[in-house]
Amino acid sequence: MRKKIVAGNWKMNCTLPEGKKLASEIIHMVQDEVNNDTDVILIPPFIHLTGIQNLICSSKNIFLGAQNCHQNQNGAFTGEISAGMLVSCGATHVILGHSERREYFGETDELLAEKVSFALENQLIPIFCCGEKLEVREAGKHEDLVSMQVEKALFGLSEDQISKVVIAYEPVWAIGTGKTASAEQAQEMHAFIRKQIAAKYSQETADSISILYGGSVKPENAKEIFSQSDVDGGLIGGASLKSRDFTNIVKSFD
Ligand code: 13P
Repeated sequence: MRKKIVAGNWKMNCTLPEGKKLASEIIHMVQDEVNNDTDVILIPPFIHLTGIQNLICSSKNIFLGAQNCHQNQNGAFTGEISAGMLVSCGATHVILGHSERREYFGETDELLAEKVSFALENQLIPIFCCGEKLEVREAGKHEDLVSMQVEKALFGLSEDQISKVVIAYEPVWAIGTGKTASAEQAQEMHAFIRKQIAAKYSQETADSISILYGGSVKPENAKEIFSQSDVDGGLIGGASLKSRDFTNIVKSFD
C-alpha cells in the first residue's frame, strides 16, 4: 500500500507567530477530526522549522518539511541551508524542484539530481516536483517534458534510493491560478510517471512510490482528484494557509 500524503507548502508566507498559530490549529484539527492514516507534512519557511517542530512533537502522522536545501553539507555558501541542518531541526522531508525554484532561481534538472541525492544521503525524503508550463501542454509535449525532468533528476538513483522519493506532479498552469487540472488529466500524468519508473526500475518500486498532485487543490476538488488510482495525495499551496481548508483536504481521504 502506498502512503497517502497531504503536504502544505506555505511558500514565503506567515510571520513566526502566524505560522505557529496556523500549525497549532492544523495539528489539533487533524488529531481531533481526521479518521484516516494520511501523512500530513507541514512545510513552513526555514526559520519557522524549530518553532513548529516544537508544536508537532510526536503527533502521530504529522511531519515537518522544508522548501529547499543546498547540495553541499556545509561551507562558504552564504544564505544557504544544508540537508543536515534541516534534519537537525526535525525535518523529515524537503521539497526539491518546485517550479518557482526552477523559474525564479534557475534550478536545473542537473542541479536537482545533486540535491535529491544529497537529501537522501542525509535521510531526508525529497518531495520532487515536476510539471509543465501551459505552452508545453498546449503543444501536446507535456509527457515528454515531465518524463525528461524525472529522468534527469531521479534516474541516477539506485532502486532503493528512488523508492524513498515522493513525487509531486504540479502543472505550472494550475499553480495559484485557480485552474486545477481535471481529475483525468492528473490521473493520466501520474499513471504515465509511474509507468516510466516501472520501465526503468520495476513495477514493484513504481507501485510503492507516492505521487502527489499540486495546483489549486481546495476542499471542493480534493476528493475527486484524490480518488484517482494513481493520485496518492496533494501538495497544497494557498489552501494550506487556512487551517480549516487544509484539514478538510486531509479529510478528503476519510
Ligand atoms: P496552489 O495550491 O496555491 O496552487 O500551489 C500549489 C503549489 O505550488 C504547491 O507546491
